[in-house]
Amino acid sequence: MRTKPVLALLLAVAVLTGGAAVLYDRLRPAAGRADPADARQVALGRSIYAAHCASCHGERLQGQPDWQQRKPDGKLPAPPHDASGHTWHHADRQLFEITKHGLAPYVPPGYRTDMPAYEAVLSDAEIWAVLAFIKSSWPPEIRARQAAVSARAAR
Ligand code: HEC
Repeated sequence: MRTKPVLALLLAVAVLTGGAAVLYDRLRPAAGRADPADARQVALGRSIYAAHCASCHGERLQGQPDWQQRKPDGKLPAPPHDASGHTWHHADRQLFEITKHGLAPYVPPGYRTDMPAYEAVLSDAEIWAVLAFIKSSWPPEIRARQAAVSARAAR
């Protein structure tokens, strides 16, 4: 078996699909897009994050202490939004839906959570801006992986 050329080919495919996913992310229409390379969108998102999200998710997006352990009230603490959390495991659209409508569609009935829904507080453009800011905190490799998740979910 000639494994080296096969491995090289697999690597090339991985790099190309990652690149295509990032390109796809950049080419979508500006409305309904969270673009970590858009300095204006990120700056808007930074101030919205500080005002509406930092109190729970942390000034530095670090989440609450022991965020993986349920609190005495049975609810989960706020997870980090930086690369150490699992925010980047979700597609853009799902992050948008969670922020706008809350977790209800993704959890069993009766699930108790401190995560608010921002539908009545933030405009769609403001929600996309917060997500752009969050994404701007991720290293390129994590951004590329999350872009691939988004591209797959959008198909
Ligand atoms: C009052 C505290 C609080 C505030 C304020 C808050 N969150 Fe949350 N958030 C949470 C908690 C707690 C969770 C974990 C939900 C659970 O599983 O119960 C969460 C989860 C999330 C998730 C899902 C993350 C994942 O990896 O599954 C997203 C996305 C999110 N929050 C975005 C935001 C954004 C954006 C803002 C600001 C606009 C915000 N949150 C403000 C408490 C908060």
